Amino acid sequence: MAMATKAAARTEAGGAMSRRKLLGWLSGVSLFGSAVLSAFSNFVFIKPRATYGQPQRFSIGKPEEFPSGARIAMEQKRVCVVREGNKVAAISTTCTHLGCIVGLSDTGFACPCHGSRFDTDGTVTGGPAPKPLPWFKVSLAPNGELEIDKDTQVEPGSYFTV
Ligand code: FES
Repeated sequence: MAMATKAAARTEAGGAMSRRKLLGWLSGVSLFGSAVLSAFSNFVFIKPRATYGQPQRFSIGKPEEFPSGARIAMEQKRVCVVREGNKVAAISTTCTHLGCIVGLSDTGFACPCHGSRFDTDGTVTGGPAPKPLPWFKVSLAPNGELEIDKDTQVEPGSYFTV
């Protein structure tokens, strides 16, 4: 009887020990899991969710693709490429009134929204637009393509020579 009690105590002691190990192991796994979860949620939080829209600096093609006298409106890019001889310019097609896209007209540009009109240089000739259409910097990229930088405005009438 005394032997059975001693054996039961040993088993309980062994059981208590393994329970302690199990709890320690579960604590370790829980800590590791929460650390991974925390790192993942920090990564999700840090990663920007904003969309920045189209890039403001982009290539439009080789200079040969724009013959002299061309006025080509690129609606998606909201810019009009003008070529006169060996000079190229990029004029914004975003109306300075409320931001509609202006279209090409015989006299320059016309806004379909509230009727603003601009001459071929983007100067306001009528309507509610408060400012002329901005001109953007044009340059030649290393690959030989024309590049427009909409983050950099230049004086109206400033052409890039190709
Ligand atoms: S947005 Fe062009 S005239 Fe109003």
